[in-house]
Amino acid sequence: MRDVRAARVAGFGTTIFTEMSALAIQHHAVNLGQGFPDFAGPAFVKQAAADAIASDLNQYAPMPGLPRLRKAAAAEWQRQHGREIDWQSEVSVTSGATEALCDAMLALLDPGDGVLFFEPAYDAYVPDITMAGGKPIPVRLHPPTDSNGAWLFDEHELRAAFEQRPKLVLLNTPHNPTGKVFTRSELEQIAELCQEYDVVAITDEVYDRLVFDGKSHVSLATLPGMWERTLTLNSIGKTFSVTGWKIGWSVGPANLNQALRAAHQWVTFATSTPLQEASAVALEQAVSNGYYQQLLDEYQQRRGLLIKVLAEAGLPQLVAEGSYFISCDISALGLRDTREFCLRLVREQGVAAIPISAFYIDPTSAPPLARFCFAKKLETIAAGGERLRGLRVHER
Ligand SMILES: Cc1ncc(COP(=O)(O)O)c(C=O)c1O
Repeated sequence: MRDVRAARVAGFGTTIFTEMSALAIQHHAVNLGQGFPDFAGPAFVKQAAADAIASDLNQYAPMPGLPRLRKAAAAEWQRQHGREIDWQSEVSVTSGATEALCDAMLALLDPGDGVLFFEPAYDAYVPDITMAGGKPIPVRLHPPTDSNGAWLFDEHELRAAFEQRPKLVLLNTPHNPTGKVFTRSELEQIAELCQEYDVVAITDEVYDRLVFDGKSHVSLATLPGMWERTLTLNSIGKTFSVTGWKIGWSVGPANLNQALRAAHQWVTFATSTPLQEASAVALEQAVSNGYYQQLLDEYQQRRGLLIKVLAEAGLPQLVAEGSYFISCDISALGLRDTREFCLRLVREQGVAAIPISAFYIDPTSAPPLARFCFAKKLETIAAGGERLRGLRVHER
């Protein structure tokens, strides 16, 4: 049969997440690969969804999103950043941050427009850019040279990328896969360049509640001169441990929301009504019921256990300042090919992880790192640890 695929998708294979999760099932492995929680979502949020369905909130939602969720997201923004925003024109609901990212690219890029982003990058970014006809402009985040260091970009490389006159910057903080949390001064540099080169910013902040060790998350949109040119994306999945719900939203000036909605109305048109209602309840109640602190405390524990488990396996690890991922340097095992390492790890040790090379346009240029996820029950992480001990015996 002839190849019927359009050029825009012909280069897309199966994602490494799908491949590793399938191998994890096949090999009865402990899945520390794909980033989703294996524990229950909060009861008050699940109950809200059940109530919404029972009360017959089951028909199409308004195209820009349920007013209750847009109001809750606007109130959240005001609480966090002190800026009052108009829920009607400055917030839009999408089917997860994934849809918002794709909508933003479709809505803002003309063929050939450049999009500057930091590499390694969440795997949807490059396909989103290219499906919209845009041109990816990657800027390297360089891995830390010592075990306590952060991933850093080079100022000159960043300016050189801006010199290519991108239309958009696509930023992710806290960052998947590195766990980097961009500092205020790094964001100030990016903000200044966005203004100097008249670039619009799309910021993906789905891990904003998962920032550790007293560090703080800074939203690019809150820096001077940036509100007018920034669309901030977030979603319910990571923060409320319900990644399957796919409820996301954008916050930003009316013109950017209007553009995003123009794409959204022809991509999904409306997003799941009962889950929007439940997401509104989640945002409303989490403010006063201590949920966010509990979430962070539990993640600190999971992170602490994964750090211990990886250290016991003899895998040197990089600091994870935020998100729910830790990267390990596999060159300590005498290996460089992370894909091969992860394939062997799942088959031979029964542990799934993700090769960092999956987050690069040119996988061969990636550093020798594997990403482990700690959005898992303590028992799961401990079980992974038991199996990873085998690495010390077999690989050395
Ligand atoms: C950086 C980043 N952005 C977006 C998403 C997707 O978010 P959602 O589940 O809301 O579509 C993920 C999920 O892994 C992610 O890691």
